[in-house]
Amino acid sequence: MENALKLDGKRVLITGASRGIGAMAARCVGALGGEVVLVDLLSCAALRDEFNGRGIRAQSFQADVAKRAELEQVAAACGPVAAAVACAGICPFEDWLSDSGWDEIFHQVMDVNLLGPINVARVWLPRLVAQGGGKLVMVGSIAGRMGGTSPIVQPHYVASKGGVHALVYWLAQRYAPKGVRINGVAPGPVETEMTATTPYDTARFPLGRRAKPEEIAWPIAFLCGSGADFMSGAILDVNGGLFVG
Ligand SMILES: NC(=O)c1ccc[n+]([C@@H]2O[C@H](COP(=O)([O-])OP(=O)(O)OC[C@H]3O[C@@H](n4cnc5c(N)ncnc54)[C@H](O)[C@@H]3O)[C@@H](O)[C@H]2O)c1
Repeated sequence: MENALKLDGKRVLITGASRGIGAMAARCVGALGGEVVLVDLLSCAALRDEFNGRGIRAQSFQADVAKRAELEQVAAACGPVAAAVACAGICPFEDWLSDSGWDEIFHQVMDVNLLGPINVARVWLPRLVAQGGGKLVMVGSIAGRMGGTSPIVQPHYVASKGGVHALVYWLAQRYAPKGVRINGVAPGPVETEMTATTPYDTARFPLGRRAKPEEIAWPIAFLCGSGADFMSGAILDVNGGLFVG
């Protein structure tokens, strides 16, 4: 029996790949035998060189997920992919009632967290359909499930991640018949730079701690492979039991 978790010969594109969950997802894909296309606003060149030095084929591109034209350029340059992971995201904590510049921040969050995944879908779905199928994985959040787990999380982030989950449902229904499986991952709090200074009452978490990036990255890598062939429109709750429903 073939190991359906392996990604041998599969090229996986990941946005937000310079650090945190995205970089770890790239490491998991590489460990499973896949190639990676690293995309981020920041340079992923060091990570790309590290992969190539270890015999894992990797490309890197600097692009803003909020700008579809930049992703089109990446798609034209990187070649066909078997899966695309929309992981790039931001989580500003400016208070929605007291901060005078909040409307602008709201739009930035929506541009990156919601328009970004939509751009990934608009750029890569036609390509995946044309090549006969593939996988799309979107990184949502427990915030989109139950309104956040820190007292300082703000409504722009929560709404953007709820939007990502709804987007997965909308896309999955339309593209499963065309051979593309579209699923999401909704992480609970994770130990990354995004939430390095965010207060959490971990004593109330069922596992008593936040996730390590690899604990989110492995489920993402799983959704990229043939082990997830019968999954479409699922949001995997990877939150240590913090939200069940
Ligand atoms: N850290 C958590 O607790 C947590 C929890 C639930 C969901 N998430 C989600 O997981 C994803 C990854 O988060 P993380 O914790 O690794 O954060 P992170 O801040 O460590 O990494 C995010 C990456 O996205 C990149 N990025 C930001 N804006 C971009 C843009 N416009 N275009 C391209 N790249 C851009 C950043 O440069 C960075 O490399 C995000 O979507 C986040 O919302 C994180």
